[in-house]
Amino acid sequence: MKIIVIGTGYVGLPHAAVLSEYGHEVHAYDIDATRIAAYQSGDADSIERYVNEPGLADIVAENLGRYLFFTTDINGIVEGTDVFFLCINTPPNRDGSTDMSYYLDAIHHLGGLLGQRQNQQRVVLVNKSTVPIGTARLLESVMREHGVENFGVASNPEFLAQGNAVEGSRRPDRIVIGADTAEDMQILRRLYSQFVNHVRIRYLETTPETAEAIKYVSNTLLLTYISFWNGVGARLAEAMPNIRMEDLKVGVTADARISTWGSYVSNGAGGSCFGKDIQSLIYQLNRAGRKTDILQAVYNINEYQKTYLIDRAIHEAHFNFNQKTVAVLGLSFKKRTNDMRDSAALGVVGALLSRGVRAIRAYDPLAMDEARRSWFNPDKNHLFERISYHETAVEAIDGTDALYISTDWEEFRGLARTIQATARPPYLVMDGRRMLPDFDMLVSAGYDYLPVGGPLLHGWPASDAPYRENGSTAAPIAELRHVPA
Ligand code: UDX
Repeated sequence: MKIIVIGTGYVGLPHAAVLSEYGHEVHAYDIDATRIAAYQSGDADSIERYVNEPGLADIVAENLGRYLFFTTDINGIVEGTDVFFLCINTPPNRDGSTDMSYYLDAIHHLGGLLGQRQNQQRVVLVNKSTVPIGTARLLESVMREHGVENFGVASNPEFLAQGNAVEGSRRPDRIVIGADTAEDMQILRRLYSQFVNHVRIRYLETTPETAEAIKYVSNTLLLTYISFWNGVGARLAEAMPNIRMEDLKVGVTADARISTWGSYVSNGAGGSCFGKDIQSLIYQLNRAGRKTDILQAVYNINEYQKTYLIDRAIHEAHFNFNQKTVAVLGLSFKKRTNDMRDSAALGVVGALLSRGVRAIRAYDPLAMDEARRSWFNPDKNHLFERISYHETAVEAIDGTDALYISTDWEEFRGLARTIQATARPPYLVMDGRRMLPDFDMLVSAGYDYLPVGGPLLHGWPASDAPYRENGSTAAPIAELRHVPA
């Protein structure tokens, strides 16, 4: 089949590449010429500068010029196309609603072209990126405005997690198709023929609105799982003696009805989807005159979670951040990506700066360029001058009074030794991901350890730690040591 994918970001490029593997003729179109030139080069580094997904650059290189084509000029290729996928970014507005301006520009442009086509074969226009419920209907009306004939609209949401785009596209857990007519369903069945009647993949055909809603309910439910564990499980283990976080998790998730996904307590879930989608769903339900208490609570818990270890450091460890130097380790929103969108580290760095730290020494295995793009701009905020960028964790820890682990990079599991070799107590380790299996070694050596999902463990005698304001009121709780994940 002939397919055009409009928009070649994290949704569009993997989708186009994997469709081309199945022998479709796929044209990927974008208005960004430098991006398209990078993809056309077939060079892995150039491709990964835009979309960094394991295995993706290889698929692009293999299919380039055979089944996969890139272009900034859509005019000449519209004729004879069976399916268009709209993979256009829909960023959030300040009020939580979705900024549809890029999407609207793209569909008006497309409507103009399709309104003039010679070949009137059936064409299906499919929304792939997350768009508010009702967008397929909006797409339909815009096409009618442009006089487009013989077309159908559909919703086929993308459920991929970042870092797993290729695997997830090749072996999705479900394909959800929302369309109005049997004819359009049939066209999409042909397109996804490898998944129809698959023994393991759910192939669901429904209305466009239901498909759009499935995406929002999925993402907000996933964020609810995480926030429940962060807001309830972790809180219990932090506040009450002798609760072992990892045992709590195993005991609860032994019930097959309860997901283990989401039980990895953290300093908040980030990424480009969760925050944006929950805000958008709140907005959509409010507009429909419905209550959104549960969504609002989940959103608030997750946002607060991103900086609450700083609060705990102040109130439980009595750490005075003023004029201190703090290492922030892990800047991306999760491991194996350089993406910092909605990352907890953004909140952590903001909170540290607003509490008067002298310097922040930042390190991430993959996201240093992203970090510089975010912060290396004193015009945005002169406080950003206090951030320095480091090539290794050791370099970042050197000369600091405290450190904060914000991302679950595996290499951080060995940090206990690095900390001991690089920094001297009194020293506070804030662990937003429960990454240090041998934290007790640190505590025995005099370092204070403050993890999410566990109590503050004093290594340094509570009464005379020079970094505390007016001495500490908290007593050492050596017997409450828990084993992090
Ligand atoms: C998510 C959804 O998983 C995906 O289905 C949807 O299409 C897009 O949004 P992604 O943003 O790539 O995917 O990240 P995901 O792996 O789900 O993690 C999101 C955040 O939650 C990360 O910050 C992660 O570290 C955090 N997380 C995840 C937890 O804090 N605890 C967990 O148990 C799981």
